This record gives sequence, structure tokens and C-alpha cells, in this order.
Amino acid sequence: MIWHLGVIGGSGLAEGLDLDDAQEIAVSSPFGTPSGPVITGKIAGKRVTFIARHGKGHRLTPSAVDYRANIDVLKRCGVTDVLSLSAIGSLAEDMAPGHFVAVDQFIDRTQGRCGSFFGEGLVAHVSLADPVCARLSKLAADAAEASGATVHRGGCYIAIEGPQFSTRAESRLYRQWGAQVIGMTAMPEARLGREAELPYAVLGMVTDYDCWRDGEAVAASEVFAVMKANAALARETVRKLVVSLPKKRSASPVDTALDGAIVTAPGARD
Ligand code: ADE
Repeated sequence: MIWHLGVIGGSGLAEGLDLDDAQEIAVSSPFGTPSGPVITGKIAGKRVTFIARHGKGHRLTPSAVDYRANIDVLKRCGVTDVLSLSAIGSLAEDMAPGHFVAVDQFIDRTQGRCGSFFGEGLVAHVSLADPVCARLSKLAADAAEASGATVHRGGCYIAIEGPQFSTRAESRLYRQWGAQVIGMTAMPEARLGREAELPYAVLGMVTDYDCWRDGEAVAASEVFAVMKANAALARETVRKLVVSLPKKRSASPVDTALDGAIVTAPGARD
């Protein structure tokens, strides 16, 4: 099998990646409408497909993104692995604005989002014990470091519904829970990636310290200014990551995440 990286770009990356022979492709999903145009192209001869999570001109709130459609469309394009690039707040002193965090765990506090491809006639329970693909995460962290970023390998991401930022009481509570970074989008993306048997990793770009530190509060303008300043670094990270991918892709355990996970009897499936 060969690599085909899917990239979901968050705030500040709406303009996409520097891809050779980039073209917009029409792919639809029975699960809904993807956030925006699906752009496919190549880096160093390897295929990469991109979706801007918040759509053209940043029109979708984190709650309005159709995460199922985005993951499903990437799967239909033949993507083998998905890298999410996202703005995150920091709940840890050493994870400073401008740093990158290769997230490895999640606490999900989102509400009312469609977080599964299964239900009503077909039931599956996949494992989320290790929600991030360690191989992809390491390759992404290596590429970010090689591009000049300060990278933290590992970090627990708490996903909130938003679109408002947290209260100070929430921010301090999340720290007590062991969360190190905070964002609004990696869940249910990570869950859906697993159900779609797509190895998934998040490279979060720290934009702020949220509001747990005395007297500080996060502002959207701050988040966007840091993301804008980091956009070139994020693009270079993706380029270096794709260049570093070996020619052949060996199997990942996530490729078969559904083996044994579907519990509905074959005769009872819709
Ligand atoms: N994205 C960037 N900074 C954030 C924060 N402080 N809270 C939630 N999402 C964020």
C-alpha cells in the first residue's frame, strides 16, 4: 500500500497547502456536506488531500462542522492516514504559545455532535484506548521539529463544545483533570477516524494560555494572530512529513479497527 495523507486544516489554514497539480474534486457523502472544497494534489510525488475544517472564509463554528462528512469524504478519496492541524489553548505552563503539541489523549466534553458512523441497525464498538496513531504522530512531530518548531510529544486534549471559550473555573477544573491543551474540534474527529479505520493524529498549535492564569483571558484575535504567524511553519511541517514518508506504507493496527467491533448479527443488519 502507498501513503495518501489527508490533512484537515483548522483556523489559520483555510488557504490550504502548497500542493503540486492541486485540483478541487467533487466527492459527496451520504453523511452530509463536507466543510468545503476537497483539494487533492501532490508533495514530492505523494498524494495529499486537504479539507479546511471551517470552510472557505471560516464560515462554520466547531459545532456546525459535519465531522462525519469530512472523514467519510477523505476515506472515499482513498486517504490512508489523517493529520489534523488545529489551534489549541494551553493548560500547562511549559506548552507556550507558538509551540506545537503532538496530542495523544482526549477528554471529550462536546455535546450533541454526531460522533459515530454506527447506530440504528448496525452497532459497532471500536477501541479508543489509544486514540492517536503513534506512528503518524511521531512522523508529524519529527517533521515539525525539523521545520524549526518546539514540539511537545504527548499531551491530553480536552475538547469543549464552544464556540465560547471556557470560564476560569472550567479552565482550572480541566487542569485538575489532567488536560494539558484545550480545543473545540478534535472530537469527534478522532472517534470517526477510528471508526473509518483511518490512523489519525493531531498536531495542535498553541495560540494562548486559555484563562487559568491570573488576570489572563483568551481572545479570538490572539488565536488568529498566532495561527497566522504559524501558518508557514504548519505548511512546511506537512511538506517535510510527506517527504519523510517511506515509499511503501506498512499496515497500521487502525487499518483493521473494525475487526471484531461490529456486534450486530449478520442476519440482523440493515
Ligand atoms: N482554540 C485555541 N485556543 C483555545 C482555547 N483557549 N479554548 C478552546 N479552543 C481553543
